Amino acid sequence: MSEIDSLKAQLQDLQDKALGSFKEAVDLNALQALRVAYLGKKGELTSVLKGVGKLPPAERPVIGQFVNATKTALAEALDSAEALLAVKEKQQRIEAERIDITLSGRSSQRGVLHPVQQGLNEMTAIFAQMGFEIAEGPEVEDEFHNFDALNIPQEHPARAMHDTFFFEASDEQQAKLLRTHTSPVQIRTMKNCVESGGEPPLAVVAPGRVYRCDYDVTHSPMFHQVEVFKVDKDVSLAHLKGVLKHFLSAYFEKDIEIRLRPHYFPFTEPSAEVDIACVFCSGKGCRICKGSGWVEVLGSGMIHPNVLKSVGIDSEIYSGFAFGLGVERLVMLKHGIPDLRLFFENDVRFLRRMGVSK
Ligand code: DAH
Repeated sequence: MSEIDSLKAQLQDLQDKALGSFKEAVDLNALQALRVAYLGKKGELTSVLKGVGKLPPAERPVIGQFVNATKTALAEALDSAEALLAVKEKQQRIEAERIDITLSGRSSQRGVLHPVQQGLNEMTAIFAQMGFEIAEGPEVEDEFHNFDALNIPQEHPARAMHDTFFFEASDEQQAKLLRTHTSPVQIRTMKNCVESGGEPPLAVVAPGRVYRCDYDVTHSPMFHQVEVFKVDKDVSLAHLKGVLKHFLSAYFEKDIEIRLRPHYFPFTEPSAEVDIACVFCSGKGCRICKGSGWVEVLGSGMIHPNVLKSVGIDSEIYSGFAFGLGVERLVMLKHGIPDLRLFFENDVRFLRRMGVSK
């Protein structure tokens, strides 16, 4: 056989072998390896081409055409095999990643706000709507803000009544304590106002946690209060009564009858406890109001001149009202919750029943 015929035969063999192997390639990687093996720089076609150099120059173009035809045939076969495999691999992947959309989903349960937090939000919002600014103070207080400035001097019996949690302190240090009420926020906001060169009017609502060393069916060592006060020229008891009536009616979502009963608080003069007509029996008398038709809901009064003096506000020019309410108590009354402890046991069945997600 002549040299050229032998080369042609080699090329034909190569092509047959290549086309057969392309069909058997199992995936794109295998096919890529074949492409390199046949058409690559060190591939089989290249090694056949080495024989071309031995041919007489006149025959070279003839074999050249042959080589090109083989090359094209291989490349085309590779391309179409590749296209087929690509489709196959895609189908396999789709199959493997198939999602059964008929499976029922796993719903995620949303949490709800704790009823006390809900109550705090509702109450604060009502005052904010009336134009009161929201303020907060520290839960770790000192005696000055919690007692002295509120007209409760060292030996005052009211101090003992507050069942205070004190922190240990050396003699020189001012004793730190957990605030027993939110009234110290009155002192802090009034003082801040004066010290930064401001002056009344001031209208503030201060929600927050308070602490007393007290624990039984109706008392928890930590509970929540909302403190409200307003200082301006000519503030009177009538303003206090108007704000209370509006607030309580808005909170209970119905017209609420109120009554101010004379009382004593060191930081107000005059002072009054505020009763509302029982929301359960509408004042007829029931177990909740112990037959009286009234339930006590908060303490209030006109800010004592000594309190204004302690923060540098002239009580000859300005007057103010203040009140402080127990959040848990109002939430219990609004929702008919029978036991304070339900708020702190955090039984999710109770919380879910009470809860709104916001
Ligand atoms: N601070 C009082 C307490 O916790 C509640 C209170 C009563 C607040 C009368 C006031 C007020 O602002 O005027 O028992």
